[in-house]
Amino acid sequence: MPTISQKGIAMPESPIRKLVPYAEKAYKQGKTVYHLNIGQPDIKTPEIAMDAVKVHMLDVLAYTKSDGSEGYRNKIADYYAKHDIHVNANNIIVTTGGSEALAFAFGSTMDVDDEVIIPEPFYANYNGFSVAAGVKVVPVISKIEDNFALPPIEEFEKLITPKTKAILICNPGNPTGYLYTKEEIQKLAKIVKKHDLFLIADEVYREFAYDGLQHYSVMQEPDLEEHAIMVDSVSKRYSMCGARIGCIVSKNKEVMATAMKFAQARLSPPTFAQIASEAALQTPQSYFDNVIEEYVSRRNTLIDGLKEIDGVRVANPKGAFYCIAELPVENAEDFAKWLLESFEYEGATIMVAPAAGFYSSPNTGMNQIRIAYVLNEDSLKKSVEILKEALKVYNA
Ligand SMILES: Cc1ncc(COP(=O)(O)O)c(C=O)c1O
Repeated sequence: MPTISQKGIAMPESPIRKLVPYAEKAYKQGKTVYHLNIGQPDIKTPEIAMDAVKVHMLDVLAYTKSDGSEGYRNKIADYYAKHDIHVNANNIIVTTGGSEALAFAFGSTMDVDDEVIIPEPFYANYNGFSVAAGVKVVPVISKIEDNFALPPIEEFEKLITPKTKAILICNPGNPTGYLYTKEEIQKLAKIVKKHDLFLIADEVYREFAYDGLQHYSVMQEPDLEEHAIMVDSVSKRYSMCGARIGCIVSKNKEVMATAMKFAQARLSPPTFAQIASEAALQTPQSYFDNVIEEYVSRRNTLIDGLKEIDGVRVANPKGAFYCIAELPVENAEDFAKWLLESFEYEGATIMVAPAAGFYSSPNTGMNQIRIAYVLNEDSLKKSVEILKEALKVYNA
């Protein structure tokens, strides 16, 4: 038989999806499964976006330009201006989700064997994108006891080698919920300028900043034009995960010209989804105000509940809709499988993502899980109750 690639063998499974067969078994056993494993919000997509594709004037569902429709890119620039990010349509390439923007960012800035420094735990698919690009992830460890704040600058500097090409951050963070302060972004800006690196910021959760805190983008930082690359997406902002629309944004002309070649190779981002995404930009602020209020209540319910469980430690998320919880178990993946296969409480169980897959350091986060608070408050209360009862039985 012909052999598959070493790269393919090295590709990691997603910790978010790999327990799906266990969940399927749980359904077959007739259990209700509360899905805390995946960042698929239950929030309604703005009607204006849905209506735009119901009532359209197209005769042919054609390709758009490789960097996306110009009308849409101009409107994205207007949206950014409202967030004090001043870019024009030429600084934006529309992509098939933030995922493709990440792939373009890796492809445009790093070669095989280059290194990217990422504060961990990090969005698990960064491992997959790195393997696909042949790039080595060098983790800098942020700790649950520090609420996952940015590690000290010296920790970054210790890790920089001649092969380091970029620092990648997720702000607000998935899976930590950490929101970087302006001072932290400024510290990173200083390092990338000193060592001539790219600063890639995944800002797909920009709107989800809580407790009156303001998100500060790498694109707002002055004198970072050549270094800053922003990754964005409509998936979470408008609860439009299935649209598969995102963008890569940079003022670095060479980066954009290079990303454009990758964009041309895949021809065009999806046309219908760009129409929906362009319409979504008219979503009123009241939609976000309600969504944020909802997520803050969910977060408070979840975190308060988790803190009451013996032996559970949890950081306080200030943004996005995830948290990392440390459990009184040795191996959270075994526990997560057991929850689906062998446990039920009042006919239900929970599916969580084992957090080890959000680290690249071996044997780290083994007793942690990631929880997405994308379910309504009653379901979250029920889920916390299930976790509490499950830990009692598991540790008996
Ligand atoms: C941090 C982060 N970046 C990027 C993505 C990719 O999202 P999409 O491709 O749907 O835009 C996700 C999805 O969950 C994410 O959590």
